[in-house]
Amino acid sequence: MEIRFLGHAAFELEHDGVTVLIDPFLTGNPKAAAGAEEVAADAILLTHGHGDHLGDTVAIAKRTGASVLAIVEIAEELRGDGLENVHDPNLGGTVSFAWGSAKLVPAWHTSTTPKGTVNTPAGLIVEIGGSIVYHLGDTSLFGDLELIGRRHAIDVALIPIGGHYTMDRHDAVEAARMIGARQVIPCHYDTFPPIVTDVRAFAADVENSTASEVIVLAPGERHTV
Ligand code: NI
Ligand code: MN
Repeated sequence: MEIRFLGHAAFELEHDGVTVLIDPFLTGNPKAAAGAEEVAADAILLTHGHGDHLGDTVAIAKRTGASVLAIVEIAEELRGDGLENVHDPNLGGTVSFAWGSAKLVPAWHTSTTPKGTVNTPAGLIVEIGGSIVYHLGDTSLFGDLELIGRRHAIDVALIPIGGHYTMDRHDAVEAARMIGARQVIPCHYDTFPPIVTDVRAFAADVENSTASEVIVLAPGERHTV
């Protein structure tokens, strides 16, 4: 399974010819590694409805025919936008696909879509190609990260580290310790001035105080799991 960082909190997971996008915010993303008109997608998974995560979901799904998974309130808005293949779980729910599965888990944040739909933010546990990827979404540090890490043998955790809107790089070290993933990829930093941070210091702190390996990806870079 291959992970490509598309910038900010957007990732592409690819295995066996199947492409899964998470939080495809590309248009208006100063760090976007691809355009909304060029990415492939069989499925699009959303952590929450903020514009820097919902992003180009509707345009990409209409162009590619990708199925979309989002918490029920966002799913309903997306159906209203004309998408037909929409999955609408709530927290704790797992949806199975031909390529794997996706589950919504809690995240501590707020969320309203650009159109005004209020929704509960989430993290995503994604199983694809025999690997488990945990995208934390936007969240602050909270104790149940440990529970999520105990429940799932996470191969790769995608952790926000930029602060201001999410946990900062110091809290993210504790999050990495609690989750106990084999590998950690930092995200949600350096996109905008309030979330500029020192990613190398984060990587050093995690590797000095946890068993996780940190993979720092520049936008556009890939990592094979
Ligand atoms: Ni957000
Ligand atoms: Mn965000």
